[in-house]
Amino acid sequence: MTPHGAKNNARTPPSMHMLCHQAPVIPVLTITDLAHAVPLAEALVAGGLPVLEVTLRTPAALQAISLMARVPGVTIGAGTVLNPNNAREAHRAGATFAVSPGATHPLIDCCEDLGLPLLPGVASASEIMQLIDRGFDLMKFFPAAATGGAAALQSFSGPLSQVHFCPTGGISQNSAKDYLALPNVACVGGSWVAPTKMVQDERWGEIRQLAHLARQLENDRHRANGTDRHKSDSK
Ligand code: 3PG
Repeated sequence: MTPHGAKNNARTPPSMHMLCHQAPVIPVLTITDLAHAVPLAEALVAGGLPVLEVTLRTPAALQAISLMARVPGVTIGAGTVLNPNNAREAHRAGATFAVSPGATHPLIDCCEDLGLPLLPGVASASEIMQLIDRGFDLMKFFPAAATGGAAALQSFSGPLSQVHFCPTGGISQNSAKDYLALPNVACVGGSWVAPTKMVQDERWGEIRQLAHLARQLENDRHRANGTDRHKSDSK
C-alpha cells in the first residue's frame, strides 16, 4: 500500500498505483524557461503520456507545476523532492504526487500529513525492506541503469515479490522494453521523451511524436506478457 492516513481532506489524491498504470512512461522534465511549461505538457499529453514529473531543480519548477496542472488531461507531480519543505511547496503549487530519489522518515511523514502520494526511491534490498516496513509496495528504482538495470529488478522479484517499481535513470526508448517486460515493473520514468535541445528549440511536434512512440511501449509489454489482442483473438 502507498502512504495513507492523510490529515488534509482538501482533496482526495489519486493513488500512486493508479498513476503508474496510466501510461508506460512518466516523462521526467526539468523546466528552465517557464514559457515552455504549457506547450511541453500539451505535446506530451497529445502524444499519450498524461502523467508528468517536473523536477524541483530549477527556479522555474514550482511555477511550471502550477501552470502545467491546469493543462487538460495532465496529472502533474514534482520530482527531486528531497525534504518536507520541498513536499509542502510542491503540494501548494498543485502537484498531485511527489517523487524522491531516496527516502527519509521526515519526508514520508510530511507527504502522509499532506495526503500527497509519494513515489520514494530505492537502490538496494535493505532500502526496499525499510520502505515495506513503512507500508510502501510501489517504489522508484534509482538510478536504474547504474544500479543493475532490468537484471537487478528481476532479482528483486524473487525475495521481494510484493513490491512494484518505476525504474528511472539512464533509460531510453530501447531499454524501456526490457524493464516493462518484467512483472514487477509498473512503468518507467525518463527524460528521453523531452530532450533538452528539442525543448529549447520548441520542437513540440517532435516531442509529441516521441511521446507517441513511448506510449506504444505498452503494446510491446502486452506482447511480452502474451496478452496482445491478436494473440487472444486467435485463441
Ligand atoms: C533524473 O534523475 O533526472 C531522472 O531519473 C531521469 O533520468 P534520465 O535523464 O537518465 O532519464
